[in-house]
Amino acid sequence: MKSKIESMQAEALAEIEQIDDLDALESARIKWLGRKGAITDLLRGLADVSAEERPALGQAANALKQAIAQAIEARKGSFADDEQPGTGETPIDLSLPGRRPPKGHLHVISQVTEEIVGIFSDLGYQVATGPDIETEYYNFDALNTPADHPARDSHDTFYVNPGVVLRTHTSPVQMRVMEKNPPPVAVVVPGRVYRVDLDASHSPMFIQLEGLLVDKGVSFADLKGTLDHFLHKLFGPNAKTRFRPHFFPFTEPSAEVDVSCSVCEGSGCRLCKNTGWLEILGCGMVHPEVFRHAGYDYEEYTGFAFGLGLDRIAMLKHAIGNIRHLYENDLRFLEQF
Ligand code: DAH
Repeated sequence: MKSKIESMQAEALAEIEQIDDLDALESARIKWLGRKGAITDLLRGLADVSAEERPALGQAANALKQAIAQAIEARKGSFADDEQPGTGETPIDLSLPGRRPPKGHLHVISQVTEEIVGIFSDLGYQVATGPDIETEYYNFDALNTPADHPARDSHDTFYVNPGVVLRTHTSPVQMRVMEKNPPPVAVVVPGRVYRVDLDASHSPMFIQLEGLLVDKGVSFADLKGTLDHFLHKLFGPNAKTRFRPHFFPFTEPSAEVDVSCSVCEGSGCRLCKNTGWLEILGCGMVHPEVFRHAGYDYEEYTGFAFGLGLDRIAMLKHAIGNIRHLYENDLRFLEQF
């Protein structure tokens, strides 16, 4: 048996040395090392040899197995060298696509912003922007909110200099747009706003979208129809809306608009605090005092305005429980949207 092992080794190594393609090498591997191959036969034969001889022969058989396996690997490596550029270890498949850097996508707030801006551009609205650092005049006074007005309390803000604030809402851009453009105007204004506020649903910096439409003969019915259309586009055709009277200094009359809760569809749940409704935006007919500041003829023109928090919309749409997630830049969160 010993001589058989030796002759098998000579035969196998000589055979493998001749091989020059991977398929033939694989056939040789099966022939020598496969489950029904020559080595398996040999090991099986060990059962018939005497107990004294068995350990030595077993070792020799295993050494043969290893020698053949090594010869096959070495052969494989050698033609990887011949045929392909590379290390000779693993053949390189030049037809494989390259490694791509991970691809980012829009932040969930940007997605919501694009969606909403898209709904209004379809209605013919233009996009306008204004500065984050704003004068008190534009942020408050021009919007019919003089220094002693109690409505300023709910807009506690960061003062940059005396008379200069981080804007508390996007409404000052209404005035900036009207000062530069004669009526009619139809604009939406997405942008960052700031307030001294911090809890699960408030962040010191957040994102609003303002809307303003001014023309001859604009009525509250136009406001209702426009916002109904918008909210149905955003929350689906079955969403219900309701307008509640409210107060804003820069609109008269004013309203807050609720949409039926997207989770419980009105029956009451945690998201809507069991009311069945989600508060979505503030709106109203532009106050004549605002037109006066803008230099618009308030006898001839009327208009409506509205404002909503885009963080809040993103949170409602995706059931996000804490506004901080939106600003912490944790990819585990962001990659979900
Ligand atoms: N600026 C208001 C706020 O931040 C939201 C708002 C309410 C905007 C009514 C409007 C409006 O244009 O008409 O709370």
